[in-house]
Amino acid sequence: MQFKRTMITFLGLATAALAQAQGTWPTKPVTLVVPFAAGGPTDVVARTLAASMSQSLGQTVVVENKLGAGGNVAANHVAKSPADGYTFFIHHNGMATSTALYRKLQYDAMKDFEYVSQAVEVPMTLLARKDFPANNFNELVTYVKANKEKINLATAGLGAVSQLCGMMFQRALGVQLTEVPFQGTGPAMNALLGGQVDVMCDQTTQTVPQIKAGNVKLYGVTTKSRVKVLPQAPTLHEQGLKDFEVVVWHGVYAPKGTPKAIVDRMNVAVRAALKDPAVVKRMDDLGAEIVEDRTNTPEALQAHLKAEIDKWGPVIRAGGKFAD
Ligand code: MLT
Repeated sequence: MQFKRTMITFLGLATAALAQAQGTWPTKPVTLVVPFAAGGPTDVVARTLAASMSQSLGQTVVVENKLGAGGNVAANHVAKSPADGYTFFIHHNGMATSTALYRKLQYDAMKDFEYVSQAVEVPMTLLARKDFPANNFNELVTYVKANKEKINLATAGLGAVSQLCGMMFQRALGVQLTEVPFQGTGPAMNALLGGQVDVMCDQTTQTVPQIKAGNVKLYGVTTKSRVKVLPQAPTLHEQGLKDFEVVVWHGVYAPKGTPKAIVDRMNVAVRAALKDPAVVKRMDDLGAEIVEDRTNTPEALQAHLKAEIDKWGPVIRAGGKFAD
């Protein structure tokens, strides 16, 4: 059985190497794994890039949502996938924060992947259901402090940026709310719209349309400066949560051992997508910022991931919330 699996992997890699040598990769659809639910913010970024990359690669880039454990089911799946150039992964800050949040991760973010490119940076927003009693940030702080035992905070689980931002908010206020984990903020947003949960931090790539339609209450953005797409929204920092900052960054990865020529070709495809006017417009409309070209190299992504692991480790350990 083991021999058969090894042979299949070997043949897959040999075929990939041949296709690469002949300059023919990709000869079939390429999978881009997304670690959270369809329809949510990571999925929106992935599908926008995939549509553009499908054109430049001449093969469909198929988005596959693999859910669970705050993104870690997908990360582990990709780490163990064949390094044949047909599996890629898009993930955000969770690739760095999970290292500190989980005691027994089955993959190593710094050893089990090839680094393709960074993509976009996305602000977060602090929201509540439409009929939540607090009408502005000051009222929110007062209400949350007075009613902490009955407030639900929606998150996408440990490893998700919604959880990280929610944890920082609770810590800033010195409260502990009831966290309700979903398999992505897509379903969490549905629960917020349906009034089943009270508050949530989520990325503008999902929240801008709901804010503009008046379906949720908005208390502020998590960037240090206001964001162009929501100019009326003050930052949490300027409203008194000093130095509160969460910016969601995205990286594209491949399983360790994916041939360098394929990683480089994929890097070119991601960079081309980030310059595609349709992608630029969609990202602009949703408040996402396309990262500068110089940070889109495999080396820059690897260095950024390392810096983020070093940055968030102490913050997370001080929070004292871990999972196995
Ligand atoms: C998602 O795509 O559902 C979000 O990125 C999850 C999260 O909050 O990290």
